[in-house]
Amino acid sequence: MQGVTVVEHPLVQHKLTLMRQKDRSTKGFRQLLNEIGMLLLYEVTRDLPLEAVEIETPVTRMMAPQLVGKKLVLAPILRAGVGFLDGMLDLVPSARVAHVGLYRDPETLSAVEYYFKAPSDLEDRLVLVLDPMLATANSAVAAVDRLKERGARDLRIVCLLAAPEGIAHFTSVHPEVPIWTASIDERLNEHGYIVPGLGDAGDRMYGTR
Ligand code: PRP
Ligand code: URA
Repeated sequence: MQGVTVVEHPLVQHKLTLMRQKDRSTKGFRQLLNEIGMLLLYEVTRDLPLEAVEIETPVTRMMAPQLVGKKLVLAPILRAGVGFLDGMLDLVPSARVAHVGLYRDPETLSAVEYYFKAPSDLEDRLVLVLDPMLATANSAVAAVDRLKERGARDLRIVCLLAAPEGIAHFTSVHPEVPIWTASIDERLNEHGYIVPGLGDAGDRMYGTR
């Protein structure tokens, strides 16, 4: 699918299988989401630009590559997107964080905003929108709408599971925003849940319901 990268790395696929299993503990689920977050971040940042700078090693001077440009922004969609955050911040400790508070109305499946706080200079930064689940994509569309309103121009979606219906919806609204996912599952069920999926990501992460 155009604009969609499925991360097929064996470690990602193995950890995802562990997460899908219904008896996985809250602790195990959270830890695996964190670990997969790191691996997905590694893939989604593959093409970040580098510049050569002069440094001095204990042996000699050399030109060496370093990242160029402003620090990237991690934008988790609350609650479940927060599950990616710690692992990703371990890899890019100086990233900025934008919190996007949305919940899915269980009847209409539309996204309802309850919180938004982002750095002021989004226009100069790569913004990674984090949410394990892209189901109808109403949440991802609303998050990207809001971040664009606040100036973001360079955005990418990072998720764990995507439904074909969600991908089609998201790309029809934001065709220039690419998606990275560990899996494209079969479909949505009548309640808007991803099948086979892994259930409710937020509930499984926090032990709620
Ligand atoms: C879940 C999930 C996504 C959203 C995906 O959040 O974490 O944000 O649903 O569904 P969509 O693509 O159909 O919008 P939920 O509203 O359950 O909130 P939570 O993360 O706080 O549990
Ligand atoms: N949100 C979830 O947490 N799981 C789904 O399957 C769909 C939306």
